Amino acid sequence: MLLQRECLDYVAAMTLAVPSELRPPQRLLCGPGPTNVEPRALAAMQQPMLGHLDPDFHDLLLEVVAMLRAAYRASAGLVLPLQATGTSGMEAGIANLLEPGDTAIVGVSGFFGRRIVEIARRHDVHVVEVEADWGEHVPNASILDALERHPDARLVAVVHAETSTGVEHPLAELGSALRDRDTLLLADCVTSLGGVELDFDAWGIDFAYSCTQKCLGAPPGMSPVAVSERALERLRARQSPVPFSLDLLLLERYWVQRPVVYHHTAPILHIYALHEALRAVLDEGLQQRWERHAAAGGLVQKRLRDDGFELLADPDYQLAPLTAVRVPEGIDGKSTQARMLREHGIEIGGGLGPAAPPMWRIGLMGPNATPETAERVVSALDAVLSADPAVAAAR
Ligand SMILES: Cc1ncc(COP(=O)(O)O)c(C=O)c1O
Repeated sequence: MLLQRECLDYVAAMTLAVPSELRPPQRLLCGPGPTNVEPRALAAMQQPMLGHLDPDFHDLLLEVVAMLRAAYRASAGLVLPLQATGTSGMEAGIANLLEPGDTAIVGVSGFFGRRIVEIARRHDVHVVEVEADWGEHVPNASILDALERHPDARLVAVVHAETSTGVEHPLAELGSALRDRDTLLLADCVTSLGGVELDFDAWGIDFAYSCTQKCLGAPPGMSPVAVSERALERLRARQSPVPFSLDLLLLERYWVQRPVVYHHTAPILHIYALHEALRAVLDEGLQQRWERHAAAGGLVQKRLRDDGFELLADPDYQLAPLTAVRVPEGIDGKSTQARMLREHGIEIGGGLGPAAPPMWRIGLMGPNATPETAERVVSALDAVLSADPAVAAAR
């Protein structure tokens, strides 16, 4: 009896608890991602919904693939966006290109290199880690040394743009060093695609994955991947099956081959947004877009240095879209972030994971990669800090 009464109370409470209409506040998203969505990509999500098996929709899929090829500069092999975020792109690379018992060499100098190691181990891969301190890049010479010691390694993995530190890996150089070897090259391009120079074909990359919510300026939810011909050969020859939802050869049958073969219900509106975001990338031009990100990142970095802040990344390998700033001694970094959000409507990031030194992470990506946004973030940070009595003493 009591139980029934409790049940009724619960249902009544549920009825009363219907929240008011969704009205999220306006934010300027200048953390490590997501960034604000390109207005034209957001508008595309209002277009009429199609079914995932509608032939008109299938033409659109091919356009997305063609535009992604242009963005990655990947003319051959397979290119498509996974219905998942960057992490699943990472897992798809490991799961498709490696089999249990294979050896992989992974460069680790931050949170996301560490995540590649963790995912590879969960797939029973033997991982050889090559480490560098946070703020440094893993020297290619150290990676090649590891390859000399483990010539059976099937894959080398690095993070092109390590968002946890703001460091860019010299990926072109690594690609050319691996060119005549059987070892495949996997690159995390989550924070580089559409914002930093990247040339899948010319640099000899075998598997790249990215996201939609950073330099492409679309909402989070998809992970564009590019796979080289030789990586596809490896995939076709594998002995053990790939997890169904990440199986690139099955996904190819929906995204690229015709007639389509159903694999999963595609996220139609996200694909519209990605389609429009990619049109924006190509309208602007890749080179111009890289230059815009470089200019905005360079400006924020200069302003911060002029204000006496220390940046985490080795200046020779500083990434443009993401700047990691050391929190000065005596300043509460988290409360600064909270005040930036509350008082200025600006989101910036903090350190990621237990190994991170105290830092703020400022991202200028997609539509936010502008000098105006760079100035706005630095002014807001100055305003927050100068209103803090602890700061005057500390700086
Ligand atoms: C370099 C890098 N790799 C992987 C990821 C994971 O992407 P997601 O959060 O979209 O799963 C991120 C996310 O910020 C990232 O910055």
